[in-house]
Amino acid sequence: MSSPEPFASGRDADVYSIDDDWVLRRYRNGHPVRDEAEYMKWVGRHGYPVPAVGRVDGPDMVIQRLTGPTLAAAAVAGDIGPVELGELHADLHRRLHAIPAPSGAEDRVIMHGDLHPENVMLTADGPVVIDWRNAEEGPPAFDVAMTAIIFAQVALDPAYAELSPLLREALTSYLVHSIDPRPQLPAALARRGNNVTLTKEELALLPQQDQLIRSML
Ligand SMILES: Nc1ncnc2c1ncn2[C@@H]1O[C@H](COP(=O)(O)OP(=O)(O)O)[C@@H](O)[C@H]1O
Ligand SMILES: [Mg+2]
Repeated sequence: MSSPEPFASGRDADVYSIDDDWVLRRYRNGHPVRDEAEYMKWVGRHGYPVPAVGRVDGPDMVIQRLTGPTLAAAAVAGDIGPVELGELHADLHRRLHAIPAPSGAEDRVIMHGDLHPENVMLTADGPVVIDWRNAEEGPPAFDVAMTAIIFAQVALDPAYAELSPLLREALTSYLVHSIDPRPQLPAALARRGNNVTLTKEELALLPQQDQLIRSML
């Protein structure tokens, strides 16, 4: 059984220990996990690095326990450099977007929708992508635009001023190694504008994020 206290928490989910191999991830707001669990299983079957999925029930998902820091923690600790951070995200997106869409649509891929350094864990077997809440089918450039916006958001946030040089270098490296996000940048910015978990201050930075990304392309 899970212990009563989560050992990790993100913006939306709490993660509880079950045993050495499995954890329970639970949405605090009751959001159902069925769709993201299906995407995780699909990409896992195609060799993509995701935690194995066990029982799924409402907002609860039993998933394989991963050991290692997030890429964010590894980057802040200086264990991975900004250029490598950008390359890793570009590579994870390239590999994800090479997987056929479950619907069979040829112009669509599975988009993670929220690929950033807090959602990748660096395990002994390499980087593993977590937090598939925003996964859906769509154009790969939209997924790339979302990641670029998230890097730019932190790079421009005065609350994280000390991380700005690292994030700018990582974003440059990410964009150099990715497909051009510009065709989907307006749609991705509009989507970020509708994100209820962003603060008013974060929302006000969207036009500058757009500018920063375009200045790097
Ligand atoms: N499979 C896992 N094994 C171990 N820790 C995990 C696992 N999945 C998530 N975590 C921990 O929980 C945190 C939040 O998980 P995440 O899925 O990103 O939820 P959120 O939607 O709240 O951001 C991660 O940063 C990580 O520390
Ligand atoms: Mg997360």
